Amino acid sequence: MKSNAESSHLSKRASRISGLGAIHALNKAKQLEQEGYDIIHLEAGELDHDTPQHIIQSAKRSLYDGKTRYTSTQGTLTLRESVACHIYSSRNVSCSPSDVIITPGVKSGIFFTILAIIDPGDEVIIQDPSFPSYSAITSLAEGKPIMWSQSPASGYNYDIDKLSSLINPKTKLIILNDPANPTGNIMKKSTIESIAELAIKNDLWVLTDEIYSQLYFDGVVPYSILSVPSMKDRTILLDGFSKTYAMTGWRLGYGIYPQRLIEPVCSLMLNNHSCIPEFIQDAGIAALNGPQHFVEQLRTELSNRRMLVCETITKARNLSCHTPSGALYVMIDISKTHSPEAISFTEGLLSSGVSLLPGTMISENCTSQVRLAYTVAKPILSTALQRIESFVN
Ligand SMILES: Cc1ncc(COP(=O)(O)O)c(C=O)c1O
Repeated sequence: MKSNAESSHLSKRASRISGLGAIHALNKAKQLEQEGYDIIHLEAGELDHDTPQHIIQSAKRSLYDGKTRYTSTQGTLTLRESVACHIYSSRNVSCSPSDVIITPGVKSGIFFTILAIIDPGDEVIIQDPSFPSYSAITSLAEGKPIMWSQSPASGYNYDIDKLSSLINPKTKLIILNDPANPTGNIMKKSTIESIAELAIKNDLWVLTDEIYSQLYFDGVVPYSILSVPSMKDRTILLDGFSKTYAMTGWRLGYGIYPQRLIEPVCSLMLNNHSCIPEFIQDAGIAALNGPQHFVEQLRTELSNRRMLVCETITKARNLSCHTPSGALYVMIDISKTHSPEAISFTEGLLSSGVSLLPGTMISENCTSQVRLAYTVAKPILSTALQRIESFVN
């Protein structure tokens, strides 16, 4: 019998890739809104802030200056210089502009990096729960995602012995996300150092997705694996502008790559999007080199929202959560509620006016967890929390 992909003339590759959970959940909520429901959106990781004005002005100036042509695939030298300076000040790692590639968002950086590294049958170790694109893109490249689980019961703790037991001769890449989506955990320096030791011992690549690098709380500054001595020639660090500068729609990110990956990744990009528009790259320069009080205010605002969520959930009957140290999300345990299955919980809650992401859209192991993204202002968040409490009661 023909598979679905064969009978519908689709490639096997197309049938291997799945859509992103958060976007599905968002679309479902938007459909209900069109039917007249009042829904508070806490499912997708998109901030309610607008991109700072000086960044927008810089893109506008650039457009009026006629920067509307093709440019270098690797990215403009000025933006790559700004990224190299930012990496030095934030990670204490010296890199040159020739180590930097400008990408259309971190997601594309993940895509091109995996395509450049993974052959069919190669194993990729991925934190679980984590951003679903890691395993989707690995499968697309015919690699095998191997999940390194962090159990909800342990507060999503990182178990290095467990990681070590997953490594075998087929392992080629470890993907890290720190601070992590969806748990909000930040790895201890000693955990990062142990992972680096394993990567060196087993000759593995490490892709570190640090898109939430600036969203940390209580003074717990994340430590990058790129900062570990001897890791530079096996580490790909990805970061971007979507979260730090509220620029999700601009599609701008960057990677620090070992020299041997620069040409393969740029060749993939050349055959895909050619280059990032120069006026968008100029906006990135303004973001990195301009005033940073937006980022400081954002951190404080997010930390306050996080505390409001965690204090309310901890006091609520039958709900619990663990307080995140970074990123934008709280994972809520619903196992003691009248609706302990993540999908039915979120569907029921949607009719009470709040949209959350079921844990099962992120990980097979999060059947009794839901993810709340605190992306709205405190008064709206309070209303959402009241609705959650009434639904649970
Ligand atoms: C861990 C992680 N990586 C990457 C992305 C996508 O980033 P970008 O908008 O730069 O493509 C997200 C978006 O939510 C994310 O959570």
